Amino acid sequence: MSDYAELNLDGNSYQLPIIEGTEHEKGLDISKLRATTGHITVDTGFKNTGSTQSSITFLDGEKGILRYRGYPIEQIAEKSSFLEVAYLLIYGQLPSQAELDQFMTSIKEEWLVHEDIKTILTGFPADSHPMGVLSSLVTAQTAFFPESLDPYRSAEKVNRTIIRLIAKMPTMVAWAYTRSKGRMSNYPNNELGYVENFLKMMFSTRAQEYEVDPIIKDAMDKIFILHADHEQNCSTSTVRIVGSSHASLYASIAAGVNALWGPLHGGANQKVIEMLSHIEENGGDVGKFIDKAKDSDDPFRLMGFGHRVYKNFDPRATILKKSADQVFEKLQIDDPMLDIAKHLEDVALKDEYFVKRKLYPNVDFYSGIIMKAIGIPIEMFPVMFSIGRLPGWIAQWKEMREHQEPIGRPRQIYVGATERDYVPLDKR
Ligand code: SDX
Repeated sequence: MSDYAELNLDGNSYQLPIIEGTEHEKGLDISKLRATTGHITVDTGFKNTGSTQSSITFLDGEKGILRYRGYPIEQIAEKSSFLEVAYLLIYGQLPSQAELDQFMTSIKEEWLVHEDIKTILTGFPADSHPMGVLSSLVTAQTAFFPESLDPYRSAEKVNRTIIRLIAKMPTMVAWAYTRSKGRMSNYPNNELGYVENFLKMMFSTRAQEYEVDPIIKDAMDKIFILHADHEQNCSTSTVRIVGSSHASLYASIAAGVNALWGPLHGGANQKVIEMLSHIEENGGDVGKFIDKAKDSDDPFRLMGFGHRVYKNFDPRATILKKSADQVFEKLQIDDPMLDIAKHLEDVALKDEYFVKRKLYPNVDFYSGIIMKAIGIPIEMFPVMFSIGRLPGWIAQWKEMREHQEPIGRPRQIYVGATERDYVPLDKR
């Protein structure tokens, strides 16, 4: 294989070095292109552009492969726990028992939040979308921990911020949720595990402590694991570019929450349920909605279908589809929405429009159905995605800062008005 590509421009020939990764992905290094040729590349939406070299997550969209630090998602989902996956993504290795215990101890030291968070929450209308509340509370952490604003702190102090984020996000989410329901806040309990503690803080009331069904705990743990990282997606790229300005980790994560909120990204799981509900209310006429999705004049898209990278099954959707069957069977749930989802999938996967465009169910197609079955309110679905994605965002931000990557600043091709003189108001 050649070490470079040859570019012929205006009678000159230039060599672009070829970068090959450990999984034999190849890229052209264009870091000196403008300086040597006066040209830039243009790739709206970055469909063909790599932003970095990373060791965290590998995915192959054609083969439907996803690995965290080399470990296949199928093995991770079956054998690991969300907290172990968080450690793996952030620190690069599976932890020993002692390391995992210490990680959990550090988290328990930090999972209480400042009581003034309640004061901040009273400023939000009860029906505020929880993603807006979450990004505000994450940003507000810079007020409680101003030392996090120092971009040149020691790695140990940065790690304290990492622990605080992993520890405090579930508590802030639970406080925001209970407040939106007019209920008292529940506090973390050091006797409990990470996911069990979160579910109890969310759903216990003063009158009734929430009993965590092991099936629900395992399903929530698996949903968090499957959402933990996904290389340079929209929200992760946002976290990296905000962090590249040496903004604090809190500011970078809050930006990631806002990017994830979009219905084409992490907001899709909420839209999937709204779409399935709409189909159910319209007599379950799946064909009508498939036709709407195919109509280029109709803005309707099949939410939970298609992916920028996966042109085969999203391996996470495959795992979640099995998990949905198990949860529904064990909890004795008979929700027509699952049947509609499966019918929609069957019809779409045989339809030329979807086959030709390689549109398959993605992670959001089944995650919403499971979260609905275990009692997560629909508006909280993207928030669950945020809790799951947090370790990945942190790992990517940490890698970018440790590699001392430059501030992200793409170029453009200007296509506006050429130079012209100002026209005084009375002459217009
Ligand atoms: C996530 O990037 C990640 O890794 C994201 C994620 C993660 O873990 O971080 O995996 C999480 O965001 C999953 C995706 C969740 N979003 C949805 O489910 C929303 C529905 N999906 C689409 O909006 C779309 O598929 C995207 C946004 C996911 C991907 O869009 P692309 O890659 O920009 O593709 P495109 O919009 O250029 O579409 C290509 C063609 C178009 O048709 P033509 O112009 O060729 O005729 O496919 C069509 C699109 O109209 N198309 C769809 C469709 N998705 C694409 N048509 C109907 N329904 C859809 N869902």
